Amino acid sequence: MKTVYSKREKELFHQAYQEVDKHKYTVSQDPFRLHYHIMPPVGLLNDPNGFIHFKGVYHLFYQWNPFATEHGSKFWGHFSSTDLVNWVEEPIALAPSEWYEKNGCYSGSAVEHEGKLILFYTGNVKNKEGNRETYQCIAISEDGLHFQKKGPVIHLPKGYTAHFRDPKVWKKKDTWYAVIGAQSERGEGRAVLYSSKDLFTWNLLGPIAGSNLNGLGNFGFMWECPDLFELNGHDVLIVSPQGLNPKGYFYHNLYQAGYFVGQMDYEKAAYKHGEFVELDRGFDFYAPQTTLDEKGRRILFGWMGVPEENESYHPTIHYHWIHCMTIPRKLELKNGKIYQHPVEELQVLRDKQVAYPNVHLNGNTIELEQVKGKAVEMMIDSITSHTASIEISFRGTARFIYNPIEKLATFERQSLKENKMEKRHCPLHSLHKIHIFLDASSLEIFLNDGEEVFSSRIFGNPSDETIMFSSNGDTGFHLKKWNLKKIF
Ligand code: FRU
Repeated sequence: MKTVYSKREKELFHQAYQEVDKHKYTVSQDPFRLHYHIMPPVGLLNDPNGFIHFKGVYHLFYQWNPFATEHGSKFWGHFSSTDLVNWVEEPIALAPSEWYEKNGCYSGSAVEHEGKLILFYTGNVKNKEGNRETYQCIAISEDGLHFQKKGPVIHLPKGYTAHFRDPKVWKKKDTWYAVIGAQSERGEGRAVLYSSKDLFTWNLLGPIAGSNLNGLGNFGFMWECPDLFELNGHDVLIVSPQGLNPKGYFYHNLYQAGYFVGQMDYEKAAYKHGEFVELDRGFDFYAPQTTLDEKGRRILFGWMGVPEENESYHPTIHYHWIHCMTIPRKLELKNGKIYQHPVEELQVLRDKQVAYPNVHLNGNTIELEQVKGKAVEMMIDSITSHTASIEISFRGTARFIYNPIEKLATFERQSLKENKMEKRHCPLHSLHKIHIFLDASSLEIFLNDGEEVFSSRIFGNPSDETIMFSSNGDTGFHLKKWNLKKIF
């Protein structure tokens, strides 16, 4: 099967590549370009899409507006990798060329079937009056690189608004399932389940979770990017709800991304689940997507951004690009909680290890001579204090603090909008390990082997590479640090 592209598709591909060429030099001059995180070549990147391990190669697609650093008619950009570290930029996978997707090939997922890579995505249409239409569409590829569109296979069912999108498809026994992010006509967020025997004809099974369902109470006006999978004998539903109000230390970003742990009854199309838990405690994390790789690992990528939040304040927009992905993380379910581990492949990025086996702080602030840099991994363990705080500041623009008396982890950064520090918190019973991935404009902090994670973009003075340690009392720890190689 040879892929046949329409005239409009070819035109759009051409225009997008022209845009890449036009801004290539400007983009490359940005000191905030990341060294080892996936970013768009130009324009705006948002959700990870179609993440799959297909014939030994990882494919990661992404929501992409090549023409502006704002949201718009999305394309699917495409990277591939054999090791989750070194990524190849592949030809554009989808461009919004057809009537049923003319305002964007929105988010979706990938499956393998009979040796083919099959994409499911949302065709987004906005007519002149601003009314939306939504179509869940299919595109098929034999080589994993060129995609033949087959058009809509699911139409908007009764009872939902046109905020109905982001199909995630998987197979269980001999049946295919799709979970779709939705809004009920009453304005409630929903995860809606479908089934199919052949990937083309789909039966609506109904909502499996949502606002005011399963005893959840009022829980947002729209649920985006659902992902349902089995982990350690449980069924995990990841979702990005919109419209949660801040509650104590939680839900302070404009929109959230988190998960439920539960049990799915496929016969009854019913899901029983526990509480919603945020996957990340930082400022920038949304619309994550997972896949099961050929090694049996459940791996997640998140978008290191949040829709509509701070987007016009990112300094990178002066260089014609915005946003990036998180590092890939392996998920583990332990005692009903998801732990996130940086995939071990990332260790090949390590260069020049330095070790400080016994750092001691005594109410003071110190710099460790060789601990600084633009792209750095740090492992801090054997933390001895049970009473004194531990604080790590980065480039004078961000700071992590753990207070063992309050049992509280805090991350603060210089606000992108105003001249002030802004904070996010998370309760944590104790802290024994801090694993840090710092890049030219991002920071991911894993606590206690992935029990909690803070992911955020940070934009300080690009020439400031300092990292400082302090405490309000007596504390000690072991530290290892590596420089990380530049991939991009
Ligand atoms: C989440 C989202 C999805 C949608 C896509 C459009 O960030 O709003 O629901 O499919 O982005 O780019």
